[in-house]
Amino acid sequence: MSAYDSIARIYDPWSTGVIEDISFYVEEALAAGSPIVELGVGTGRIAIPTAAAGIDVIGVDSSAGMLDVCAERGRDAGVAERLDLRLGDLRRPPVDERVRLVTCPFRAYLHLANDAERLDALTAARGLLKPGGRLIFDVFRPSREDIEETHARWIEREPGIDERADWDLERQALTLSVRGANGESTMTLWWLEPERWNALLAEAGFVVDACYGWFDRAPYGGGEDTVWIAHR
Ligand SMILES: C[S@@+](CC[C@H](N)C(=O)[O-])C[C@H]1O[C@@H](n2cnc3c(N)ncnc32)[C@H](O)[C@@H]1O
Repeated sequence: MSAYDSIARIYDPWSTGVIEDISFYVEEALAAGSPIVELGVGTGRIAIPTAAAGIDVIGVDSSAGMLDVCAERGRDAGVAERLDLRLGDLRRPPVDERVRLVTCPFRAYLHLANDAERLDALTAARGLLKPGGRLIFDVFRPSREDIEETHARWIEREPGIDERADWDLERQALTLSVRGANGESTMTLWWLEPERWNALLAEAGFVVDACYGWFDRAPYGGGEDTVWIAHR
């Protein structure tokens, strides 16, 4: 059972405002060519536009409920034949293919609790890549303002969908709760400073090509978000 199973039916309305990353990941998929692997594919928020652009996507996720929604959305969008959805853990992805691009969008790596898990995940992603192939993912660490504005408060994020963030600065852990008419869940995310992601990528055998601060490819300037491009 994944913490996402019980919110699979509200994930899309919850994330409806998150659109800034879609064209970025679709462009990278088009540049790499089929197939690509998306780790933590979820309901296909990015995989479905990617498939609609003509790229085959092998999508891995540990939530059967999220994959069910993704499959339905793929059929509705007429791209089901381009989506190969696989239930599994991104630290041990059930993927034998070797590809030119592996992605892990929208902070899915923040579900990893410690460096051992992060290294397992990065090493596994590297193992899926052909020589020179790239891993692209985005993560965040909170700003002081974000913590002050949101800590321990239920906030209506989208109509009918409330979110609550409980920040633990010592453990660098965010307990995130979401509730709506069709589901609710609580999950933990652990954040790191960008320097730590850089070091973990090197330890896993990656060469970092870029660390952007946003999906417009602006260089990282100390903000909350980082977008990483690294090759094996
Ligand atoms: C924030 S959602 C991102 C979904 C999608 N990539 C997107 O951009 O909307 C994180 C996803 O990662 C999945 N996930 C979390 N931990 C995972 C793990 N260890 N292995 C596989 N999937 C995982 C969750 O089930 C969820 O679907």
